Amino acid sequence: MAILVTGGAGYIGSHTVVELQEAGYDVIVCDNLSNSSQKSLDRVEQITGKKVKFYLADILDRAAMEDIFKSNNIELVIHFAGLKAVGESVAKPWEYYNNNISGTLVLVDVMRQYGCKNIIFSSSATVYGNPAFIPITEECPKGTCTNPYGWTKSMLEQILTDIQKADNEWNVVLLRYFNPIGAHKSGMIGENPNGIPNNLMPYITQVAIGKRPELGVFGNDYDTHDGTGVRDYIHVVDLAKGHVCAINKIRENCGCKVYNLGTGNGYSVLDIVKNFEEATGVKIPYVIKDRRPGDIATCYSSADLACEELGWKAENGILEMCADSWRWQKNNPNGYDD
Ligand code: NAD
Ligand code: UFG
Repeated sequence: MAILVTGGAGYIGSHTVVELQEAGYDVIVCDNLSNSSQKSLDRVEQITGKKVKFYLADILDRAAMEDIFKSNNIELVIHFAGLKAVGESVAKPWEYYNNNISGTLVLVDVMRQYGCKNIIFSSSATVYGNPAFIPITEECPKGTCTNPYGWTKSMLEQILTDIQKADNEWNVVLLRYFNPIGAHKSGMIGENPNGIPNNLMPYITQVAIGKRPELGVFGNDYDTHDGTGVRDYIHVVDLAKGHVCAINKIRENCGCKVYNLGTGNGYSVLDIVKNFEEATGVKIPYVIKDRRPGDIATCYSSADLACEELGWKAENGILEMCADSWRWQKNNPNGYDD
């Protein structure tokens, strides 16, 4: 029996493939490489010493998906494939709804056609909108998303929940990620953004390596301890391990479950700058800019439910996250293009 990882060549997917292979699972990856390079999987093979069976396929392509399920005995799908750039989703809503929602509908239909009714889905803390309370537990009501990307996550959670409700042979685990940063300790795989990074950590590492002159800090007048935005940063390897734990839950025939994957700690933008400098010895110049539209002041999780029910807890602290992000960037100044 194998596990199909959609979007497995991407940032979180490639780290998850490492953890799955190291836990002894037989892994198949399908990715259309729209936001990734197959080189990530070559690196995964170097890290684990195991081959990754790869299909260059789009989840929207039903025939290609059927071929994958026909040729392999797939027990469970970990579904990362999706477009994820918040700003781009505002400019290209159709592309985001089509890729993320229609793509998932095709995937799920082919899954049930082949009797595979187990799915772990990459959701996001973005579904909480401006959260009703902090720390955010899974009981916190879903909120109003500020962009089409966020709505695709919120809607897909609803779609998968309804599918499971209608047919209890399905097991669905919705994992709400907080802010993944860091990279594998080997420095061989990591986040590889196209163009100017939108997210904080890749921007900082590009300043550190000299590609950008300074960091823009988006607002210092929020109601937080230093006025800058607070988030729950989680090491991508810890996040990846959360998926391995979720497989055990699926195998208990769990029905539909929702878990936050975060650390439970909130760090501000300036805390991250300080910790990065301490972990790496590299100075990060910054300037204060206006708030970024759509940003909220504070977002961090309660990670208790995943601890109780999945037996999972993030292990890496903020200094390790910063050091590992930097090792990846330093070893690969141009990502997989080096
Ligand atoms: P990523 O872009 O590195 O990985 C996504 C992968 O999916 C890419 O390799 C891309 O080529 C592939 N893909 C996209 N559309 C596809 C399609 N139609 N068919 C086949 N492959 C397709 O992103 P990531 O950071 O690894 O995120 C993985 C998942 O986690 C995404 O669903 C994302 O929305 C979600 N998520 C990410 C974050 C984050 O901050 N990185 C936070 C919350 C949730
Ligand atoms: N920030 C800066 N300067 C930058 C980039 C970010 O000050 O150049 C600040 C932001 O204002 C925010 C914090 O750093 O306060 C984190 O910003 P990110 O863009 O790294 O992350 P977000 O919390 O905005 O969003 C991320 C993902 C979303 C996901 C969300 C919740 O990008 O896809 O986490 O999981 F939905």
